[in-house]
Amino acid sequence: MSLTERAFTATAQDFSITQMTEHDLLEVVEIEETTGLSRWGWAAYYSELQGHHNHLMLVARVDGAERQDHRHRLAGYIVARLGADELHINNVAVRNKYRGRGIGLKLLNSILTQGARSGAARAYLELRAGNSAALALYEKCGFQVTARRARYYSEPTEDALVMTVHLQGNA
Ligand SMILES: CC(C)(COP(=O)(O)OP(=O)(O)OC[C@H]1O[C@@H](n2cnc3c(N)ncnc32)[C@H](O)[C@@H]1OP(=O)(O)O)[C@@H](O)C(=O)NCCC(=O)NCCS
Repeated sequence: MSLTERAFTATAQDFSITQMTEHDLLEVVEIEETTGLSRWGWAAYYSELQGHHNHLMLVARVDGAERQDHRHRLAGYIVARLGADELHINNVAVRNKYRGRGIGLKLLNSILTQGARSGAARAYLELRAGNSAALALYEKCGFQVTARRARYYSEPTEDALVMTVHLQGNA
């Protein structure tokens, strides 16, 4: 199998989920800039990593043969914060070329498991009401829409959906 065929058929098994480090931040910001998500930027991710906040920050690293023909080290990332017994998922993104291979699901399941092990009883997040890919991903992980916030987002103006999931049994 050629490297091109190998890249095309790669699955989430070609990626490992590990803790985000300072060395990942340039690529994290590069991925963020291609997604249309609200921008955090390097300084905010750096502050989250360095701070005393109870953060969970994971990356999907490109492994094995998949790694040989690409300059990227990261396929995606996820960032959440633990407060009391709640896990707030802030950002999740996967590079365009790696989408549809189960990486977003792997990132989300990993952070829900870590959150549950750290004492979170439930997780919640907000998303643009029209983000059907993210909505389907979250529903697949058991999230349900619990509220709608009118005109929550700007540029463009759009409603937010609030989704939550109970985490008992995820640990
Ligand atoms: C949302 C996102 C993270 C999904 O990542 P991904 O790695 O492509 O998702 P996965 O391959 O793990 O898909 C898991 C499930 O999510 C759903 N899903 C993912 N992409 C989808 C799409 N384009 N349309 C419909 N459902 C989709 C499906 O249920 C899928 O399961 P299936 O493959 O068995 O059908 C990715 O599209 C992304 O980075 N989008 C831009 C950033 C963003 O919107 N983040 C969310 C902010 S709230």
